[in-house]
Amino acid sequence: MFTDRTALQTAAYAEQGPLAARLAIYRWQRNPVDLQGLALAALAGVSGTVLDAGCGLGTYVARLRRERPDLRVLPLDLSAGMRPAVVGDIQALPLADASVGGALAMHMLYHVPDIPVAVHELRRVVQPGGVLVVSTNGVDDKLEVGNLIAAAVRDLTGSVIEPPDSDGRFTPEDAGVLRAEFGTVEVAVYDREVVVSAAEPVVAFVDSMRALTGAVLPAEVPWDAFLDAVRLRVSAEVERHGAWTMRSQVGILTCR
Ligand SMILES: C[S@@+](CC[C@H](N)C(=O)[O-])C[C@H]1O[C@@H](n2cnc3c(N)ncnc32)[C@H](O)[C@@H]1O
Repeated sequence: MFTDRTALQTAAYAEQGPLAARLAIYRWQRNPVDLQGLALAALAGVSGTVLDAGCGLGTYVARLRRERPDLRVLPLDLSAGMRPAVVGDIQALPLADASVGGALAMHMLYHVPDIPVAVHELRRVVQPGGVLVVSTNGVDDKLEVGNLIAAAVRDLTGSVIEPPDSDGRFTPEDAGVLRAEFGTVEVAVYDREVVVSAAEPVVAFVDSMRALTGAVLPAEVPWDAFLDAVRLRVSAEVERHGAWTMRSQVGILTCR
């Protein structure tokens, strides 16, 4: 997963559309994991302000505001295109020491160049007795997508590429970086299956990752031809098995 600040701001998260398209695949979850509900539960004893660092589309912000109107929620993101209240970098939070009761860093630490610095910043701003909730993808997350991308490239060019690394920079196995700053870190890992009975939602999902995965394609492969190869592969799988399936693994790390 890349960490280049300019690429994150001007390509991957320049606007909300691709992230919304990427998250749409989870409508096909068989055994849904309510990540927002889990974050809310972890924040049960928190009062005052809750920072959502790397808020993205604001899914957690909306749920917190709806279900915890007693809290002041502060959405922050590196990319202005995500329309956060504060444009800022988790590695240098524009907040005073011990100024928030709780913080979220959901599916974002893998994009941060210096993860220990980000965690140190979170420790600095969260009051003693407060809670930090972190989510990230597990080591076995969405392996089928990397394999699909590699297979589509092989179909088109005959060449073998490494399936793109999704988010191996920070997985639940890396809880040590949080333990270095927080007294206790509880790790819970959830497995879910995404079973898609048509090709187009999978093609749209792969298309939404263009800024993240485009770089792994050989230069001679046009993006549309690549998507056609993905479509063919997924259609064949749907035809054969009734669905294209991927396993998704997500970790929630609750730090106190
Ligand atoms: C995969 S999205 C996750 C969005 C949201 N937290 C969620 O779980 O739906 C990652 C978000 O982190 C933001 N981000 C990346 N690096 C960041 C940084 N250094 N500081 C703050 N936000 C960052 C991106 O702009 C993007 O909106």
